[in-house]
Amino acid sequence: MSTVPKTPTAPPAERLPLTVPQLAERKRRGEPLVMVTAYDFPSGQVAEEAGVDLVLLGDSGAMTVLGYPSTVEVSVEELLTLCKAVRRAVKTALLVADLPFASYEASNREAVRTAQRFVKEGGAQAVKLEGGKLGARRAQAIVEAGIPVMGHVGLTPQTATALGGYRAQGRTATRALEVAREALALERAGCFSIVLEAVPAAVTAEIVRRLSVPTIGIGAGPATDGQVLVFHDLLGIYAGHLPRFAKRYANLREEMVAGLRAYAHEVRSRAFPAAEHTYSVSPEELARFQELLAAELPESGLP
Ligand code: KIV
Repeated sequence: MSTVPKTPTAPPAERLPLTVPQLAERKRRGEPLVMVTAYDFPSGQVAEEAGVDLVLLGDSGAMTVLGYPSTVEVSVEELLTLCKAVRRAVKTALLVADLPFASYEASNREAVRTAQRFVKEGGAQAVKLEGGKLGARRAQAIVEAGIPVMGHVGLTPQTATALGGYRAQGRTATRALEVAREALALERAGCFSIVLEAVPAAVTAEIVRRLSVPTIGIGAGPATDGQVLVFHDLLGIYAGHLPRFAKRYANLREEMVAGLRAYAHEVRSRAFPAAEHTYSVSPEELARFQELLAAELPESGLP
């Protein structure tokens, strides 16, 4: 596995918060959009400090931080807790929150209610939902309630079982046409941006040419207006399966395990803590304390 050299690009010194309309402007100017997932305060801080444009509180957090086998198990309450933590860290990037499985499909009312919770309680500025015809209807209802929606087509992990597993979508003409229709339906429903996941690059390019909203790809090739990766995949923190499209830019898990092993070794060998990790007390205060202690709790009196 190859890790990549430290990036040369530093974020601009002072950044203003990015808004939804500015994303369309960025697309018009041909400036790529950078999105990354985050699930807690430190990952939000890291994303912010690195100067990314959008932070996604992804339901992938179900797997990367909560340890579920897939994204379908995670609840609204669990994602809301993560969202609030990310919100405390993210100041300038646009914070988008995933609506978890079974929190928006049943009715427009349920979809609007859940989206409102992510905005009101979680502090998200927009929500993301996985597409298809039903997704477009729910997206329209949420947009009408005044909340910006990002759509998600192609490999939609919440319905991966119906798609035959975690596999690329749009490798047949029929399926590619379905993905294109879903993306256009989401755009017509008012989505401000569409994520395309695990779609062949050439298919993505055709779809992107027919959309006017900014597109963000993950395993969808270079034609999209931006890219998104899962924080734990790109930094090498997650030990689970690494999808073909996830490029690893660091290998933090190895460093974390090495760090903990070194700590365990030093505790066992009594090398830690050393004098520099220890508070001191003046000899006079210590002598006085020993005196007081001996009077109050003579050692022989201890159980
Ligand atoms: O939850 C997530 O991480 C996502 C990205 C893969 C787009 O939805």
